[in-house]
Amino acid sequence: MALREIRLEGDPILYKQARPVEKMTERMKTLVDDMLDTMYDGEGIGLAAPQVGILRRIFVIDTSEEDEEKDPLIFINPEVLETKGEQKGSEGCLSVPGKIANVIRPSYVRIKACDKDMREFILEAEEVLARVILHEYDHLDGHLYPEKAEGPLMDIEEVDEDQDVEMKGKKPLKVEWL
Ligand code: NI
Repeated sequence: MALREIRLEGDPILYKQARPVEKMTERMKTLVDDMLDTMYDGEGIGLAAPQVGILRRIFVIDTSEEDEEKDPLIFINPEVLETKGEQKGSEGCLSVPGKIANVIRPSYVRIKACDKDMREFILEAEEVLARVILHEYDHLDGHLYPEKAEGPLMDIEEVDEDQDVEMKGKKPLKVEWL
């Protein structure tokens, strides 16, 4: 297990375009493993490679609960094929610690990507998972959620814990291997 340093808002690397992964090398596999370790350590539900200082088109997501088995999704060279609808909900980011804000996003996404073995898949998601996917995807193009936030960022500690946390749509609607 290896943790990588998380780059914080203001770090120039977070605002750059990430490049595709050409080949899954041992170095890239280690990066993916380290990204998962770093995400779990930070109690995040998603992490993109630029957040650990690597400008590659990779992100990882795990929306499972603490008491559930880990269920990581790995997206390499993702390409959003379709989005639909609209949802409003709160987002945070490991690169913007302690903050939270409301962001409007599509409520559905269909995305193509490769897994860790460079096998291609198409995944469909809605609700929370669609939100997380689109948040992480933005990181690959140098965008952070505060750009899209509705209203000011709030301190996470000041937000009422009872605020309804959206539980729906944590699992993909469909995964098709190509
Ligand atoms: Ni983020």
